[in-house]
Amino acid sequence: MSSAGVSAKSVPEWLSTFRGRPLVLVALGDWELPDEQLLRQIRAELRGLGASLLVVSERSLFCFRPDDELERLEPSGDSAFHAQSEVAAHFGLARPQPSELHLVLLDDAGRERYRTSVERSPRLAEALLSALTSAGKSALEGQELEPAALAPGNTTSGPRISRRESIVLCLIAALSATLAESCKSGPSAPEKLPLRAPPATTHEREVVLRVNGLERRLKLEPRVSLLDALRERIGLTGTKKGCDHGQCGACTVLVEGRRVNACLTLAVMVENKAITTIEGLGNGSELHPLQQAFVSEDALQCGYCTPGQIMSALGLLQEGYALSDDEVREQMSGNICRCGAYPNIVRAVQRARKPELPT
Ligand code: FES
Ligand code: FES
Repeated sequence: MSSAGVSAKSVPEWLSTFRGRPLVLVALGDWELPDEQLLRQIRAELRGLGASLLVVSERSLFCFRPDDELERLEPSGDSAFHAQSEVAAHFGLARPQPSELHLVLLDDAGRERYRTSVERSPRLAEALLSALTSAGKSALEGQELEPAALAPGNTTSGPRISRRESIVLCLIAALSATLAESCKSGPSAPEKLPLRAPPATTHEREVVLRVNGLERRLKLEPRVSLLDALRERIGLTGTKKGCDHGQCGACTVLVEGRRVNACLTLAVMVENKAITTIEGLGNGSELHPLQQAFVSEDALQCGYCTPGQIMSALGLLQEGYALSDDEVREQMSGNICRCGAYPNIVRAVQRARKPELPT
């Protein structure tokens, strides 16, 4: 992680480093650094939005570009207070309560596209991820806050806004005017942020995915993985993202009955092929025999790897392997369980294969 002092630069000057791409601004109380996994997920969401992230907490500022290290900006003493206040005021953000987080998505022209407040759930970093996901969905669906609907006092059309939002919007307007004025008169006023078309929509094409027997028509860029398409676009979050590098097996799904790592498979590669995810097992009221076997054999602890384990086991049984415990271990060696539930997983697979096994 690198470190830089914001006090050496004015806020507008510092903010100009974000020019030319959308910006997610987050204000929160205290901020714990996300662990590696959450960081990867946050990075993926930011990539989806094509945005940088600026986190303004009570104690520090962070900026995060999807392809760079998390950068911590550490003003000290009074300058810390001023820098944080200035950044928050610049964007018209209310002071967040300790358990809440405000998120504003600005496009590359600095226009507000989405705003939300979420509660800590259970960690702020997770709340941030969930808010980012909502922002991504909103961007995909083209939802925008219409200026007319946002005008304070306008109750006749568009979404209703709270008194707090009205105040925040007045602040945005007042501060934007002040900022525009200072940019005009300052000796080294930065140029207006250039408008740039969001790159994410440029190469989208329609893709038909057949997931669990249903046809899903999506507009996707060719670079979108099957895993992201399932989780972020279709909303089937049973398939988990562990490493996103083909190393853990948490994302295992079946394509035409064969096991694949969804994180290593581009969605466009499996167009019109039969995709089965964990949501496609069972019938809504009864578990699939493999799911039941995992429950009966207590083959999970935290459960994060379990959808991938079950899908891998299903593929393995269909392939006709795994007659002995050693074969099960070998054939499922691509599915990592950090809780170490392996002995029970092997037993669950054997029970699904031979339900008559003694308990
Ligand atoms: Fe780990 Fe796909 S997420 S292999
Ligand atoms: Fe926790 Fe497998 S049950 S990772």
